Amino acid sequence: MPAQPVLLVRIRQLLTLRSSVPGPRRGRQLQELDILEDGAVLCLGGKIVSVGKTKDALRDPWLKKNRKKVLEIDCSGKVVLPGFVDAHTHPAFVVPRLVDFEKRIAGASYEEIAEAGGGIRSSVQAVRSASKQEIAAKVLSALQEMAWLGTTTVEAKSGYGLSVEAEIKSLEAIRAAAARWPGTVVPTLLGAHVVPKEFQGRSQKYVELVCQEMIPQAARRKLAQFVDVFCDRGAFSAGEMETIFTCAREHGLKLRAHVCQLSETGLAPFLRFQPASFDHMDHVRDEDIRELARHDTVATLVPGANHFLGLPDYPPARRLIDAGVPVSLATDFNPGSSPTASMPFVLSLACTHMKMSPAEALAAATINGAWSLRLAERKGSIEPGKDADLAAFAVSDYREIPYWVAADHSAFTVLQGALLGGARQEKH
Ligand code: NIG
Ligand code: FE
Repeated sequence: MPAQPVLLVRIRQLLTLRSSVPGPRRGRQLQELDILEDGAVLCLGGKIVSVGKTKDALRDPWLKKNRKKVLEIDCSGKVVLPGFVDAHTHPAFVVPRLVDFEKRIAGASYEEIAEAGGGIRSSVQAVRSASKQEIAAKVLSALQEMAWLGTTTVEAKSGYGLSVEAEIKSLEAIRAAAARWPGTVVPTLLGAHVVPKEFQGRSQKYVELVCQEMIPQAARRKLAQFVDVFCDRGAFSAGEMETIFTCAREHGLKLRAHVCQLSETGLAPFLRFQPASFDHMDHVRDEDIRELARHDTVATLVPGANHFLGLPDYPPARRLIDAGVPVSLATDFNPGSSPTASMPFVLSLACTHMKMSPAEALAAATINGAWSLRLAERKGSIEPGKDADLAAFAVSDYREIPYWVAADHSAFTVLQGALLGGARQEKH
């Protein structure tokens, strides 16, 4: 059913994120939100058709004729921004990892837990035994929670199946969930998350399986747009990442990778693959930062993982931004290191622990998230022609979104023209 036309009026602060500068936002550009006061946005057929001041919007001849057909929402006292683009999530899991959680509280590290049989591998059995429908239901509930918190585009990885069958089933589950959600889902094959138990000591053989079976099937059936690799201590080597990147590119899939989360990996040699994003980046080298500043690969930072793992240090956002690297922010929603679906919470972490300003954090979570998914033509800013993806918050200043830590001030969300919520009191 086509979405009803929606008109938002009297918006106290409308953060359009428009810019005439091409490419992902870097340096000072990340602070430019392009705010309109008393703003209005008209959405038709799932697209944004006009953006401006309320008084101008109400004078529009089309609107004058069709006002009765339009769902008009008074946004006085609210902030409206582009829906968050959460460019890094792992929703295809079945059970939370509560034992890992308790072990960590008792003093074990993420890597120690993984070495002792916990970690990513311990999520695999449940995914292998689950039906596609069960996994899809879990993914859908995560997507719904994200939408209530203002997220309208979600990158969703497989990565807890670690066999051809279970990885493909996870991608099918992501597709099934996406079909029942009004927002936009970008599926990613993360077959190379870790080496599964049955391939222990034979990682080359597992990489062959990823390259000879998982990637070709995912590409042929259009189940994934991206291929991701966890390249780090305890996961895959730089050489293995190169093999996987080469194969993924041959199959026409776009590239992203988990890098420098636990240890350093030299990134410059991989820029020739033009990855859309390098994620985590806690241990990125200075010389790679200089190189990244000259490319369009986005550094997607996921401070939810640092927070949940209780780490003293956070990704070096200031070094990256000040050097001119485009930075985005994402939840890394997953059962082991970051069980949060909340972009507003991630914004708070980015401001407090990574010293990003509220404006930088908001741009990183919207337009640069869109760049990180190569979707900036359609997502990440409020401009005529772009998808009608909007997040409204019941606050009067955008800085309150990261300021009210772990709060839920989202008022309603518009996902490709479809309204979720409508009034704060209807929400819960
Ligand atoms: O991004 N680092 C690898 N992958 C996830 C963790 C997944 C898990 O522990 O289940 C991450 O932090
Ligand atoms: Fe991750």
